Amino acid sequence: MTQKKNSRDRAVFATRFGAIATTVGSAVGLGNIWRFPYEAGIHGGGAFLICYMAFVFLIGIPVICAEFCMGRQTRSNIFGAYRKLRPGSPWYLAGYIGILASILILSFYSVVAGWTVEYCLTSAFGQLDFTDTATGHRQFMEMTTGWRPVVWTVVFLLCNFIILIGGVTKGIERASNILMPLLFLLLVSFCINSFTMPGFYEGLSFLFSPDFSKITPSVLLGALGQAFFSLSIGLGCMMTYASYFNNNSRLGKTAMTTALLDSMVAVLAGIIIFPAVFSFGLSPEAGPTLVFEVLPYIFSQLPAGVIWSTLFFLLLFLASLTSTVSMSEISITYFCEEKKMSRQRATIVSSLLGLAGGLVCALSFGPLSHVTICGQTFFSLFDYLSSNICLPLGGMICCVFVGWFVDKKIIRDQFTDRGKYRFPLLGVLVFCLKWICPIAIFVIFLNSIGLLHL
Ligand code: TRP
Repeated sequence: MTQKKNSRDRAVFATRFGAIATTVGSAVGLGNIWRFPYEAGIHGGGAFLICYMAFVFLIGIPVICAEFCMGRQTRSNIFGAYRKLRPGSPWYLAGYIGILASILILSFYSVVAGWTVEYCLTSAFGQLDFTDTATGHRQFMEMTTGWRPVVWTVVFLLCNFIILIGGVTKGIERASNILMPLLFLLLVSFCINSFTMPGFYEGLSFLFSPDFSKITPSVLLGALGQAFFSLSIGLGCMMTYASYFNNNSRLGKTAMTTALLDSMVAVLAGIIIFPAVFSFGLSPEAGPTLVFEVLPYIFSQLPAGVIWSTLFFLLLFLASLTSTVSMSEISITYFCEEKKMSRQRATIVSSLLGLAGGLVCALSFGPLSHVTICGQTFFSLFDYLSSNICLPLGGMICCVFVGWFVDKKIIRDQFTDRGKYRFPLLGVLVFCLKWICPIAIFVIFLNSIGLLHL
C-alpha cells in the first residue's frame, strides 16, 4: 500500500482500496474464526447469531462511522480526537478505556495467536496426530497447559514487535492484501467440505435456527461484545486508522464493506465448525478451546490434510498479526503523540505491557489455572472485561459524543467527502448515534447486571 505524507507530516493511505484493505485486515482475525464459534457455541447457536447480526447492523456500523468521522476530521489519536472536537472538556478521558482495553486484548489475543503458530509448525512437521478424539484432546492439552504456551506467546509478540519497530507494517499489509483473499477461499472450500459431514444438518440447524427462549441477558451481552470485538470498535482503533485515510475514502461505504466482509467470515467459520462438532460427537459448549480441538479433525478427513492445515494456520497467524498490529497502534500513537515519546520507545513500552499481560494469560491454562478472580482465570477475565465491558462502553461514549456534541456540518462533510458524494443515510446515521446505539448499549448493560429484566 502506498503511503504519502500530508502537509502535517502524518502518513496517509494513497488509495481508497488501501483504506478498505487495512480496516478489513484489522477486523478479520481470531475474532471471527476462533472467538465467534466459541461464543456462539456457549450461547445457544442460532439465538446468538441473530442477536450478533442485529448488533452489527444497528450498533456496529454506526459506531464504525462515528469513529471514522472523528478520526479523519481530527487526524489524531483517540485522545487528540476528543480534545480537538471539544477543547477543554473531559471527554478525552474515554481514551483511557481504549488504552486499557487494547492492552488487555493484546494479552489474551497473543496467547491464542501463539497456539496458531504452534499448530502451524507442528502440522508442517507432520506431527499433528488426530487419529481419534482422545489423542486430539490430549495433544491440545499438552500444547496449552504447561509452560509451552509462554514460548509461543512470546514468539508471536516478538513477530508483532518486529513488524511494528521495523516499520514493515506496509509490507505485512501488502502481503495480507493477497493472502486474506486466499484465507477466504480456503474457508469457502472447507465450508463446501462441511456438506459431506454426517453432522451437517445438525450443525447448520444449531447455528441458523434460533430458539428465542435462549436469548438471556448474558447472550445479549456476549453478542454485543462479540460484535464490537470482531469489528475492532470501541477503543479508537478504527479512529486511529481513519486518521490515515485520504480525503476521498467514502467513509459510509468503507464502514459497510468492512462490516459485511467481517460478518461473512464469521458465518463461514460457523458453517465449518458446527457440522464438524456434531459429526465428531463433541460439545459446542467447549469454550475457548473449541476451534483448536475441532479443526484438526476436519483436516484429518481431507486428502493431503497436512498441507491444508499448515496453510490454514499460517494464514490465520497472518490474519492475527494484521489485527494485533492495529490494536498496538492505539497505545503507540498515544505514547508518541500525547507523551512525546519516539515511535521506537513507544513501541517498546506498549510491547512490554502486552508481554506482561500475555505471560499471565498464557499461564492461566496451566500453572495459574487455580488463580481466579470472580471465578474467572486471567485469560477469561481479560477477555470478558475488555470485550463485554470496555468496548461497548467506549463505543457508547463515542456515539453520544458524535451524535450530540459534534457539529452536524462536520459529520456531513466527512460522509460526503466535503460535498463530493451524496450520502442519503446521514439522517438515519445521526438518529442511530443519538438514540438507538446509546440506549441499546445502556439497556443491555443494565439487563446483564440484573437491574432491568427484559
Ligand atoms: N477485530 C479483530 C478480530 O476479530 C481484533 C481486533 C483488532 C480488535 N483490533 C481491535 C478488537 C480493536 C477490538 C478493538 O480478530
